[in-house]
Parts: sequence; C-alpha cells; structure tokens
Amino acid sequence: MQQNVTRNLSLDAAVEDAERRYVAANPNSQARFEEACRTMPGANTRSVLFYDPFPVTMTSGDGATLRDLDGHSYTDFLGEYTAGLYGHSNPIILDAVRKALDGGVVLGGPNQYESRLAELMCARFPSLDMVRFCNSGTEANLMAISLARAATGRSQIMVFEGGYHGGVFYYGHGGSPINAPFPTLVGTYNDPQGAADLIRENADDLAAIIVEPMLGSGGGIPGSPEFLQALRDGADAYGIVLIFDEVMTSRLAPGGLQEKLGIIPDLTAFGKYLGGGMTFGAFGGRADLMGRFDPRRADAFPHSGTYNNNVLTMAAGVAGLSEVFTAEAAASLNGAGDRLRERMNEAGRRTGAPALVTGAGSILGIHFQDKPVHRPDDTEATPAAARKLFHLEMNLRGFYLARRGFMSLCLPLTDRDYDRFSDAFGEFLETYGDLLRDGRQAP
Ligand SMILES: Cc1ncc(COP(=O)(O)O)c(C=O)c1O
Repeated sequence: MQQNVTRNLSLDAAVEDAERRYVAANPNSQARFEEACRTMPGANTRSVLFYDPFPVTMTSGDGATLRDLDGHSYTDFLGEYTAGLYGHSNPIILDAVRKALDGGVVLGGPNQYESRLAELMCARFPSLDMVRFCNSGTEANLMAISLARAATGRSQIMVFEGGYHGGVFYYGHGGSPINAPFPTLVGTYNDPQGAADLIRENADDLAAIIVEPMLGSGGGIPGSPEFLQALRDGADAYGIVLIFDEVMTSRLAPGGLQEKLGIIPDLTAFGKYLGGGMTFGAFGGRADLMGRFDPRRADAFPHSGTYNNNVLTMAAGVAGLSEVFTAEAAASLNGAGDRLRERMNEAGRRTGAPALVTGAGSILGIHFQDKPVHRPDDTEATPAAARKLFHLEMNLRGFYLARRGFMSLCLPLTDRDYDRFSDAFGEFLETYGDLLRDGRQAP
C-alpha cells in the first residue's frame, strides 16, 4: 500500500493523496453525484450513505460482491449496516420473493406469510409473546415507545448518549434537531449507577427506557451486563417499560442479545435482515402490552401501515429465518466475526499501530486509538482523518465498509475473504501506523 511513497507524509497529506487516487478512479460516480445534487440535497436520501468527496454509486451485487458505476468490484464488509446479512442474491430468498411476486402484490388483506413470520420470531426471541410488523426500525421504535406511553399514561422516555434508534431518534453528539419531540432524559451508556439514579429521580413520569444492548452506529460498544441489568431492575421497580432496540443486535445470537445475556425486555424493536433484505420493521413483547392493539377490543390502540404485511417482505422474512439464518448459521457467522476481530486486534498489537476493533460477533467497529472504548465519547480519540484514510484505502483495495469504521458480516463471505481483509488491514497498519499515531497526538 504505497509504503515508500507515504512514509514521510503527514496524516492529512496521506488523506489528500488517497483522495486524489479515489477521485481519479471514480469519474462516473462523481458525475452521477454532481448530477443528482441538482434534485436531491447533497445527492442524498439517506444521510449515512454520504461520505466525502462523494460516495461510489452501486450498480449491482451478488453473493458478497458489489459492483459500482466505474466497473470496480468490492467485497462487501458493510453488509448494508446489518440488513444485508443474506448477501445480495441468496437463492432461497430470491425464490421466495419471486413466488410472492407471482402471487400478486398489494393484496389488501391478511396473507399466508405474516402469521408464519410472527410464529418464527416469537419462537426465537425470548421477550416476544406477540409481534406486529411495520416498515422500518425507526417505525418499530416509534411504535414501541408510543405503546409504552399510552399503556403507562406517562410521558417521558429515557435514552442513552450515543444511541441510535432511527432517523428521528438520534442521541449521538448532543442529539439531532429533528428528533421526535418526546420529553426525553439522556443517560450515560454503560453507567449502571448513573442510570439507576436517573430512573429513581424521574420514575413518576417515566414511561419507557429504550436501549441498544450493544451500541451499533455509536461504535460497536457492548452494553455491560451490569448496566443492562440495572435498567431491567429500575424498570421493574417503578413499572417502567424496558425496550431493547435489537434492530442490529438480533443477529448476534439465535435469540438476539437478550437471549445471550439472559436479560429480557418488556418490548423489543426489530428491523434490517429479518425482512430478508426487503423493507422491514417489527415490534413485540409482553402479551398484556401487545394485546392492547387487538382490534376486537372496544378500547384497542390503532396501529396501521399500508405495507406492514407486504407479501415481498413477509415471504422473504419467512424464508430467511426458517431456511437460511438458522441457529447454526447464526453461531457460525458470529464465530467468524469474533475470529476476524481477534485477528485485526492482533495486527494492531503486532504492528504497534493504534488500532482497536470493538463490537461483538458479526458486527465490528474499527477505531484507530489505544484508548479503550467503554462509552461513545471514548471513540473521539480517533481522528476523523484516520477514519477517512482507512476508508478510502480499503475502497481502493476493493473492500466496502462504512466511513465510520463500521462493518457487518454477511453469510456469503468466505474464509478467503476474511484472510484477504485481515491481510489488507495489517498492511494498512504497517504502512500508516506512524502517521496514525502522530495524527492522534496532534493538537
Ligand atoms: C439500533 C438501530 N435502531 C433503529 C434503526 C433504524 O432502522 P431503519 O433504518 O430501518 O429505520 C437502526 C438503523 O440503523 C439501528 O441501527
């Protein structure tokens, strides 16, 4: 990786050099980007997909391979931010979608797939007595929170700094001006005592505590069992609804992190891969809470959504959960992720470069720092320039991952892909380790 050329550069100069090569390699993506800027703000309809100077435009994918508008191929280590668990062309999923298409779409009634998917999910995730479907993880969290508020008659919700529960539930870096306007308390992630105190002080009007059992977009930071248990205990003590957002983490064990940790929330929000790669969200949990939506009740809460039970998602979800992402497949993919993480951390130790790979199982977060990561603000020790350099260099080497260093593995990745990726990671650290260390220490 250009070791001789870059040895004497600063981190910023190395980024500039990588960016120049990236721009030269992607003229068609750049042209598409500039054209799209005329009608879409920043050529973008999903903030996370933007990175500077412009993102590559994808044209197709199969297995674990992506192709872009300039003819490059990438091995996909992003896995569509966990939604792409099955890869881009799993034959069982594609068959299920084709069969559903052949049966006609927008049927306007219950269909033969939805209760099967509900059964599969309730059998799998310990907190689920009952489940309902929606169209995104954001919507799943919105419904779970709204259910908790309506059922308890209280108004406040408790979230955690660095948490992400969807486009209107972003609590990193001081939050977002377009967050849903619920009265919100923001606690510190992985601080059991602080959380217990905050719950006790606000118990009277606290409807729900919502938490990712591992922060996904916040840096791949597992919640400690003590922290998550403190939330369970606080919720129990004051009749508060504990919601686990397992939109990302449900893939980390056959029954999600709740099963692995043995801490069972009252409600759980799901999304991503569980729709087999189609638009998906679901929320579910205790029968007494979910039963409030039973339309046979005179006082039923409404929950609507034209596409909640669309046949493509329901059919793909059933096929994926029953035939592809079995308990054995979950164990195998997460084992591969644990091994990859260990190899990458070993590369950091071997080269002496500041590098730390966090996460659990098939979700990985890469940070260029020595400082351990327990809370989201710990990841600020990695300079933005280091993340950009790594992202561009890996892109130029044919590996697709997120600018922030987020990766999630998909089923079609092979041992050879893992070998190639860890070799490239080791080479990156050897080439740029000194610059990463200097950049980190810069004022
Ligand atoms: C933990 C978590 N919750 C909720 C969401 C929102 O899901 P969606 O993008 O389907 O609305 C995401 C998406 O990345 C997520 O990571």
